Amino acid sequence: MKIAGSAQRSAWTGKWGFIFATAASAIGLGNLWRFPYLAAKYGGGAFLLVYIILVVTFGYALMMAESALGRKTGLSTIGAFSSFGKKYAIIGILASVVPFIITPYYCLIGAWVTKYMVSYLTEPASVIADPTYFSSFILQNNETFLWLLLFILLVVLVIALGVQKGIERVSKVLVIALFVLAIVITGYSLTLPGAMDGLAYFLIPDFSKFSLNLVVAAMGQMFFSLSLAMGIMVTYGSYFKKSEDLEQSVRYIEVFDTLIAFLAGTMIIPAAFAVSGSADAVSAKAGPSLMFGALPQVFQNLGAAGNVIGFIFFALVFAAALTSAISLFEACVSIIADAFHVTRRRAIVAVTIIIGALGVLVDAGYNGLLNVDLMYSLFGIGNYGDDQLLDFFDFISNTILMPIVSLLTCLFVGYVIKPKTIIDEVEQSSEFKGKKLFVVMTKYIAPVFVVTILVSYVLNTMGIISL
Ligand code: ALA
Repeated sequence: MKIAGSAQRSAWTGKWGFIFATAASAIGLGNLWRFPYLAAKYGGGAFLLVYIILVVTFGYALMMAESALGRKTGLSTIGAFSSFGKKYAIIGILASVVPFIITPYYCLIGAWVTKYMVSYLTEPASVIADPTYFSSFILQNNETFLWLLLFILLVVLVIALGVQKGIERVSKVLVIALFVLAIVITGYSLTLPGAMDGLAYFLIPDFSKFSLNLVVAAMGQMFFSLSLAMGIMVTYGSYFKKSEDLEQSVRYIEVFDTLIAFLAGTMIIPAAFAVSGSADAVSAKAGPSLMFGALPQVFQNLGAAGNVIGFIFFALVFAAALTSAISLFEACVSIIADAFHVTRRRAIVAVTIIIGALGVLVDAGYNGLLNVDLMYSLFGIGNYGDDQLLDFFDFISNTILMPIVSLLTCLFVGYVIKPKTIIDEVEQSSEFKGKKLFVVMTKYIAPVFVVTILVSYVLNTMGIISL
């Protein structure tokens, strides 16, 4: 079978280039913003346990499949699937929709983080801790649009520098800085009064908290955090040299990503406990208010040091968000360039316009320029909470599209091209040690698991069963 890859395709400088760039893609708002609030909402330790089990089994198999598929074909996601037969392009097309849905709201949260990082340099921590600070900021139309524009421009700047000089170099520096900053903030957070109760909540599983929604949330989080089922791993795999050890790289990436999620939980949940005093109060702050509301309150209690710690914390989140936004953006660029046979430069311009326009739309929902309830009703769904387009995009991508893409990918690998195709690709460089787990996961466990979870979730939501 002829596989079409570009002879001039960009490449990482080596194994560590791939590991750093991919770890930088994986480690992001998913770890620092999404993981702690989901863990707080779904019972702390129980969520952590389910999440880790999913990462080392399902996540591992899917990451191997996606990155090996990218390396084998030398193409981004649509081309990678369709090179085995035109009808399989649909899997790549569905996967390609995901980064176009996530990147706009991702950049918006990145913009809020940038604003907070700068604010800790220019305003007293007590002002930023005021409960109205966040709401009045996101309601100011012009200012949020400008921060969004700035964040998108920073992303485009790195992308325009290219795979090695831009993405790889920036990723190396930022991943190392991120680990150092994460350890500093975690150490500080654990010294706060009341922090140990939060730590116990996060680490000790309470199995009475176990629920279907917990598993659905942990699965969506696993895809989001490891940058799976969204075209990124196929694209990044396509820049990976045939001589480098793919399996070992994937293991490093999983360890780095899970370690940062763990550190984020260890820094944010105890800090939120210190402010709020109980699990219920913490889970009530799920979503943006945990990071933009609870933590600034912790920082303000420190007097002048509050500005320093607050700045370090938001610099950490900024570094993580920027590198992940770069990978989401890069996936979009690569998809457009490969699908429409246009130059990288043209693809960058097109993606900037699309993401910028959608980002402005999400932003407009917050500052009242867009009637979000009307948008929801156009899609035939009522907006019963105070959900925004951001929540809608997050739900569609994490709870619906990513499980479907992962299911189709497993079936494609398990029954169409057969696991041997991936195993042979991995073994071009070194022995595929986890191949038995890989085969069992892609052929049997992962498909059955995803179908069971999705069907029960839908039936549960429709009230047909009660779980
Ligand atoms: N994997 C990226 C994150 O966790 C998208 O933020």
